[in-house]
Amino acid sequence: MTPKHLFLIGFMGSGKTTVGKLLAERLNLPFVDSDKWIEERNGMSVGEIFETKGETFFREEELAFLDASKTLERSVISLGGGLPAIENSLELIHQVGKSIYLNVSLLTLIKRLKLEREFRPKLKDLSDAEFHPFVESLLSERVHYYKQAKLIMPNERNNPNELVEKIEKELAKLNF
Ligand code: S3P
Repeated sequence: MTPKHLFLIGFMGSGKTTVGKLLAERLNLPFVDSDKWIEERNGMSVGEIFETKGETFFREEELAFLDASKTLERSVISLGGGLPAIENSLELIHQVGKSIYLNVSLLTLIKRLKLEREFRPKLKDLSDAEFHPFVESLLSERVHYYKQAKLIMPNERNNPNELVEKIEKELAKLNF
């Protein structure tokens, strides 16, 4: 049977991992993270993959993950921020589950990401002057994909427990 996964999508720093783990716990489902899956398969961190094999290779791995997700038991899955922007990926996502977009404003993302810039391969080489415009432009390129999610949930306040409760209620309404 095709699994009915719950995919969390959204920009880096939108809270997918924290919220995903909590949601999985509440629903008694396994939690899976696409970045972790790729790291394990390649025996190196996402940062090392970007550096040694390049971003194009990483995006291919993200598609391989989506394909592999077809054979996973029903799970809550956190997807890397760039994955929904890969051509046809949303179609694949919606073949095997439903998507939830954690919607966070540009300014909040900037605040959160500033603190962890060095750990993020797409941000770590940017100068202070480049950082804000880069995030703004990448978010505006991607938001159109994120908004195709079945459920859009604001995550401005960074209160995962409260948000997970709201998500559960919305999922029940969708009979999911
Ligand atoms: C990326 C987001 C990261 C990771 C990689 C690229 C992106 O995942 O996949 O660094 O292009 O937005 P998170 O969104 O989980 O941080």
